[in-house]
Amino acid sequence: MKKLIGLKKKKTAVFISGTGSNLKNLIKFSKKKNSPIFVDLIISNTHNAKGLKYSKKYNIQKKIFSFKNNKLAEKKICNFLLKKKIKFICLAGFMGVLSKNFIKNFKGKIINIHPSLLPKYKGLNTHKKAIENNDKFAGCSVHFVTAKIDSGKIIMQKKVKIEKKDTIASLAKKVLKKEHLLYPAAIKKIYN
Ligand code: GRF
Repeated sequence: MKKLIGLKKKKTAVFISGTGSNLKNLIKFSKKKNSPIFVDLIISNTHNAKGLKYSKKYNIQKKIFSFKNNKLAEKKICNFLLKKKIKFICLAGFMGVLSKNFIKNFKGKIINIHPSLLPKYKGLNTHKKAIENNDKFAGCSVHFVTAKIDSGKIIMQKKVKIEKKDTIASLAKKVLKKEHLLYPAAIKKIYN
């Protein structure tokens, strides 16, 4: 029965480069009955991604592709995703940049989570920027991926209040907690 439910869900690949807390959270979510996705593959652009450990823990295939040659890496990934019949891609702390060419093969099927209230603070060091600018709120966004970094249509956002005592680390922790609520909610919004 479990398998039958799994088959109806969109076969999903999660792309990571780091700790993988969002990956872990998405795997757990994808096992729930009301999840529209099923995490079937973990892709990383580095052997050093700590999140790769979840492959063994949850018995999910992992693949590592070197991005030394972007074009070649994307070609290999694309072929592999097609072979695996992957229908949906979640970027979760993935530090590679995907080209227009790659994205057009999965039009409207690649989403990303970013630790800021986009369009504010695209790119890196989002929490540092929010604190330095004395912002009242920080937060996170889930958006569709386009070739322009952190610029695709926003699906959902969650706000976090910045307290006077907040440091970059404490804010990052608070935002990450919200990310774990936001990512599944945004996926449900797309498919339900
Ligand atoms: C998250 O803050 C995510 O928004 C950003 O990179 C971080 C990844 O964290 N894109 P993790 O690897 O999921 O723990």
